[in-house]
Amino acid sequence: MKEIVTMTPDITPIVAGNWKMNGSGNSQSMVRELVEGFDTELRQKVDMAIFPPAILLERVSNWLGDATIASGAQDCHANASGAHTGDTAAEMIVDAGGSMVLVGHSERRVDHNESNKIVATKAEAAWRAGLVAFVCIGELEAERRSGNTLDVLAEQLAGSVPDGANAANTVVAYEPVWAIGTGLVPEASDVEEAHAFIRKQLVERFGNGGATMRILYGGSVKPGNAGELMAIKNVDGALVGGASLKSEDFLGICEAYRNMT
Ligand code: PGA
Repeated sequence: MKEIVTMTPDITPIVAGNWKMNGSGNSQSMVRELVEGFDTELRQKVDMAIFPPAILLERVSNWLGDATIASGAQDCHANASGAHTGDTAAEMIVDAGGSMVLVGHSERRVDHNESNKIVATKAEAAWRAGLVAFVCIGELEAERRSGNTLDVLAEQLAGSVPDGANAANTVVAYEPVWAIGTGLVPEASDVEEAHAFIRKQLVERFGNGGATMRILYGGSVKPGNAGELMAIKNVDGALVGGASLKSEDFLGICEAYRNMT
């Protein structure tokens, strides 16, 4: 494991847990363990957020109480209200105590045919309600194999991050689709290249807002690889799926930041 450990100045990293469609039955004990384990020293080094299923959000937010752990939803609709059966408005996420929302996760892009354009309208809806939008992007395995990763990232960034993005209202999550839930992780040099490319695109488009926007890595982050991944330049935290479902593992990922300066 590499020994590095400098954080990008002016950026507080964030470790975010995407519970996906999990958490039934044991969510209260998970939240309690996170609140207990996220100690003062760690809180000064890294932010923490959890994204439970929408139906659990209000309870999770209440259980978090005044702990400095943010909560959010995994998706929102573009509209504030209306005839959209089964959907959740960004404003309702705020009502449920959330301050953030994931938009454009690859599972939404695939399962629900979400295009870049749809993702962008959801990010705008998030801002309208005062939420931070976590815009997820990432290449498919075939796109990586054919050498198109950076082109795909450029297209997704251009199409799914709306004008008006800044470091306060937007987080970009780079998640190679082939690394999600598979245990496969790109080489550190590939992560570094992708994040440097994303940073460059964000700076070109948003200036200082892009220079200080958080860029998370996601895809099979575990306690065992978090130290190496989180130390890569322009990696400002992690979006964690599977390993966010065990508080010990999720806290173990946050531990990567304890000794960073
Ligand atoms: P994983 O999921 O950590 O289970 O790979 C990441 C994600 O989908 O956000």
